Parts: sequence; structure tokens; C-alpha cells
Amino acid sequence: MSEKRIADLFVIKSRFLRSTHLERDFHDSEALSGYVRTDFVQESCDRIGEGLRPKSGRRAWRVTGDYGSGKSSFALLLANLLGGRDSELPPQLRRVIDFKKLGVAQPSFLPVLVTCSRQPLGTSILQALHASISQVYKRGAKSRISGKIQQLRDGKTEPGDEQILDAIVDTNSQIIADSKGQGLLLIIDELGKFLEFAALNPHRQDVFILQRLAEVASRSANEPLLVVCLLHQGFHAYADHLNQSAQREWEKVAGRFDEIVFNQPIEQVGHLISSALNVRVDQVPKGQASSMRQAMHRAVDLGWFGAAQPQPLLELAPRLYPLHATVLPVLVRIFRRFGQNERSLFSFLLANEPFGLQAFSEHQLHDAEPYRLHNLFDYVRTNFGHRLTVHSYRSHWNLIESVIESYATDAALSLQILKTVGILNLLNDDLLASEESVLCAVAGDDHALQSESRAALEKLQRIKRVLYDRGRSRGLCLWPHTSVDLEKAYDDARRAVQTPQRVASFIKEHLETRPIVARRHYIETGNLRHFDLRYCSVAELVGPVMENPSNADGVIVVPLCETANERDVALEFTKIDELRTRPNWVVAVPHPLSNLASLVQEVQRWEWVMTHTAELNADRYGREGITRQNGWADGIWREGLRLSPESKDFGDGHGERNREQQRKHHEILQDRIQTELFE
Ligand SMILES: Nc1ncnc2c1ncn2[C@@H]1O[C@H](COP(=O)(O)OP(=O)(O)OP(=O)(O)O)[C@@H](O)[C@H]1O
Ligand SMILES: [Mg+2]
Repeated sequence: MSEKRIADLFVIKSRFLRSTHLERDFHDSEALSGYVRTDFVQESCDRIGEGLRPKSGRRAWRVTGDYGSGKSSFALLLANLLGGRDSELPPQLRRVIDFKKLGVAQPSFLPVLVTCSRQPLGTSILQALHASISQVYKRGAKSRISGKIQQLRDGKTEPGDEQILDAIVDTNSQIIADSKGQGLLLIIDELGKFLEFAALNPHRQDVFILQRLAEVASRSANEPLLVVCLLHQGFHAYADHLNQSAQREWEKVAGRFDEIVFNQPIEQVGHLISSALNVRVDQVPKGQASSMRQAMHRAVDLGWFGAAQPQPLLELAPRLYPLHATVLPVLVRIFRRFGQNERSLFSFLLANEPFGLQAFSEHQLHDAEPYRLHNLFDYVRTNFGHRLTVHSYRSHWNLIESVIESYATDAALSLQILKTVGILNLLNDDLLASEESVLCAVAGDDHALQSESRAALEKLQRIKRVLYDRGRSRGLCLWPHTSVDLEKAYDDARRAVQTPQRVASFIKEHLETRPIVARRHYIETGNLRHFDLRYCSVAELVGPVMENPSNADGVIVVPLCETANERDVALEFTKIDELRTRPNWVVAVPHPLSNLASLVQEVQRWEWVMTHTAELNADRYGREGITRQNGWADGIWREGLRLSPESKDFGDGHGERNREQQRKHHEILQDRIQTELFE
């Protein structure tokens, strides 16, 4: 018989691996089967439950939380609880809200589930409203209200805010009158996507509709309307490049919603992990289970679990098998800062990723070591490395990685120590790489291993000189000097640099204006032709840009449109007769540059840091970090200027020259946007 592996102790429930999609999962009876009712989930349900009290004024909520923190799953639970499906829920989720205590009957709201996209909010709501109504008013009995919604949705002109609100209130009254529900439960997921749309199209969509929606819900008294919005960050983050007065408006709108910040405390994440792995604790070898508890004891003593109660943590320890207690707090922070919270957590735990828990759990059970911080370092390097490189200025990742890479040794223990210190240096927060914590992480309660590790630590510091002790408050570190606090310098710059209102002039300085060779033409015909490249403002299109003669074979004119309106003007310009008489002139119209305002601001901030931080002169790593930041920003201008499909194509030359660079920058840009959102 083959040896038992660690993995044989897991009884995994599959639901943990996929993201929740509200509309799809609401009709899947299995969707909540493995959902864990943590204390935090319970408290959040209780808060929203308050809105059920007769005439409560707390009926508009916004749930804010990072990527993958469990917002949609929570909303799905709410839709089931308040939609009268309590008895269909898995046993652990029944009676989550104590309706008796609230003095209300079991509710039966009609859920209206909206997942926003980059389109007007009204359109998304009307679509979802129509879908919900069609569920309760079946075929023959087509209601008046359903017809009204359909008309608004399919009309030639976009419906106004008041018309949409009217439709919602009207539907609410109607379903109550027809006993189809106690009211509407409007859940708006991915609200951030709509806010992005609103920020980019201030002339088309106003966030004021949200304010009105919250007001209507709060005053809905005897005809309750509940509104729950889900989004990744505060409203202000989406309004980043709007002007000050617009930002204040957005704050005001946000203030109309009660906020629930979705951020599970560490011990509850531990609880989630233990539910996901579902370890057969009775089969964990006794010695190993006791080491798990011991390690938890020490980690709690080190203060690594903050103010969490020790007893429940000690009980939790063996259920986290084979994760060493020191791994949990580091894991949570790494995924919060550099990953996607619970989503990253579950793929670490359950997916077959290199150096992840599943790969590790192929080890034989009887003499298994726990999964320690140095194992986590390998996982992070493989799965997050490229992302960390982009943001190295905040984490010193490049430095950490290169020290560890270049340290040539056969001594496994020394390398484990360096990786342990490395991952703690990466976080650089209150989880200090002290001698005590490093010993706990690498050696646990094994006395022989502890003294061996102590000797190795000593050698790494005094003889090898790759570890530096920076005192009680800063702990062990992989580099000797105190590096400039770029994070703080960047924060100062954030305050000092205003949001740019117009960006074209700034971008122009960074653009490449060398003539472009028509390469395909050259390859196919052997004739060398080149085009002048002229960037200009939209106003200049009718003036000097067209008038200046050129010695090249042709001219490509790129009007830098600041806004959608300017872009329309530029596209209109391409139709003038004058251009017809110049077949070798091309006008290439890019997307509106206002999309790039936050990137311009980013570069300006780094330039500010460069010129206002004198200590940088003595800090090579810091300087390199900034140069890298500006390097990617430079390529992004070109990416942002990708030509719109409407503009005339001008051959392959331009594309090929920049394609590889653009691809790289595009990847960085995508990564960058993602990172920006969950940080
Ligand atoms: N309490 C919980 N019990 C079980 N699984 C959970 C729980 N909370 C979150 N998850 C799991 O975490 C993952 C992410 O959850 P979910 O999709 O709800 O997050 P989200 O915050 O909506 O993410 P995004 O911001 O990307 O939309 C899912 O796999 C989900 O099953
Ligand atoms: Mg979601």
C-alpha cells in the first residue's frame, strides 16, 4: 500500500475556487453550500437586518472591500436570506438573521440583482428590474409595470434619472400591492465599474442618481426598498481625476449610504482556511498536531495575531495543518497587499500552483514538516514575482530577491533563514524579523534545530555578512543601510502635486516624433518612404499643423484630444475637403486623453519625489526604483494613444516599431491597474 500523503487528510469542498456571480449563482441551489458564517459575516447581516424594522431609515448600504474579499458571496447570502429562501439554505446559514428579535416576520423581498458594467447605471438597473419582474408575473399576466420598464429600457432616448427612480418606486408599490414581495431588494454589484464610467463621461452620466436612490430607500417607510451596493474602494478613489467640486459631490453621494467595510479579521480568515481544507484532525500524527499548537502559542506570544483571543487560535492550530502558525498572518497580509485577498488565498490553498499548499501536500504524512515561511517565499517568488518587481519601490522586492538568488550555499537551513527574513522584509511592517520570530518560523519547538538555526543566524550575520541586525525595533534585514522611505516621499508628493486638468502639453514632451518609415511598403516594393509625425492640439488642426510644408513622403497628424468632445471635433475634421486633396496626409485620432490624467499625475509625483528628496542622492536602490517607475509611465503614453478604429490606417511601420514595447507596457499597465485597485 502506498504511503499516506498530507493531501489525504483534506476533505475539500469545491465551491471555494470560483468567484461569485450574483445573477448566475442566485439560481444555483448549491452555490452557498460551503459558505462559512464567520462572526464578521454575522455582524454585517445584523447591521443590514436593522433596516427591516418598520420605518427604519437605514436602508441604503455600500459594502466596500478589496478584490476577492467575499463581497459578492455575502450579497448572495443576503439575497437568499431576505428573499424568503431561508429554509432552502444549507443548515449553517439558516436563521443567520434573528427576525424575531427584530420584531419582524420572515421577510420575502424580491431581489433585483444588478452587476454593473461600463454603461449608465439606469440601463443596468432597468435590465435587472425587468428580469425580476418577469419572474414573478408569469407569462399571461403581463403586468402594466413590466410594460413600462420595457418601454423605458428599449426607448430611443436614454431615460432620465427621475424616470428610472419612478419606475423603481412604482414597481416596489406594485409588487407589495400584488403580494409578490414585501418590497424590492436592489443589490448593485461591481458599482465601481459604473463609477469609472461616470468619471470618464461626466457629460453623460451623473452619480447623483445614486444619491436619489439612497434617499428614496431611506424614506421608503412602510413600503420598504433596500439598496445594497458593492464596490472595491471608496467613491473618492474613482473620482481621483475629477475636479475638486466634483470630488466633493461624490463624497456627498457616498455619505448617503451606510458603509460596511469588508475586511475579515485574521482569526476569521483562519476559520475560512480550516473550513476550506476541512482537515481530518484526528488523523494528524500526534507529535505534529502538538507542534502546531506549540507554534501557535509562540506566534501569539510574539504578538503576531494582534488582539485576537489566544484560546480559539490554539484550538484552530491543528485544523490549519500543515500550515505553520507563523504563515497565517504573513499570508493574509501578502494577499491583501499584493494579491486578491480570499481569492488568492483559496488558489494558494486549493489550486495546483507551484510551491502552493497542494503541491507541498504531496509529501508523505508520517515525517512531514509543516509548510513554513520559506516555503511561502518560494510560492510568492514564483506566483507574484513579476508583479512585485513593478512595485519594488514599495517593497524592495528586487533587492530581496537578488540577495537570496546570489547567495551561493549548500546549507539548506541558511537559505531557509534568508527566505524567512526576506518575506518579512517584503512586508516591512509590525511582523518583525527578530531572532526569536525567525527561530520560531524555521525551527518550531525542535530544540536541536533551534540551536543549529541560532548558529546559522550568527554565521549569516558575522561571517557571511548577508544579514544585518537593525536593532530591536527594526529587526533583521537583508540590506545594511536605511533606505529612503519612498512611500512617505510619495505621500508628500501626492499632497503637493495637483490633479492635472489638461494633459496634452505634458504628454507631448514624452512622445517620440522621429519620422516613421513605411516598412511594409519598403519590403513589398523596395521603395523607402517616410512619414513625418506631428502631434498637435485639436485647436491647432486648422492652423499651423496643416500649413507647415513637409519634405517627407507623407505626414501623420495626431491631434491630442483631451476630452470626448474634442475627439468628436477631430473626427469631424477628418472629413474636410482639404484632406481629400492630400492623399499622403493621415489624421490619426486617439482616444480622449483625460483617461491618462491619473497616469500623468503619477509621473509628476515621481518627478516631484526625485527633485524634493535630497537623501536620494545617497540611495542607489531608491533612485533605481524611481527610474523604473517613470520608465513604464513613458511607454504608457504611447499605449494610451492607441489609434481609434475610425482613423485611417497608415501601414505596418509604426505598429511594428512599437508593438513589442507596447505589449510589454500593456502588460505592465494591466498589472498596474489591477494592483492599484486592490491596494
Ligand atoms: N465566508 C466565506 N465562506 C466561504 N467562501 C468564501 C467566503 N467569503 C469568500 N469566499 C470565497 O472567496 C472567493 C472570493 O469571493 P467573492 O467572489 O464573493 O469576492 P468579491 O469580494 O465579490 O470579489 P471581487 O471583488 O473580485 O468581485 C470565492 O471563491 C468565495 O467562494
Ligand atoms: Mg464580486
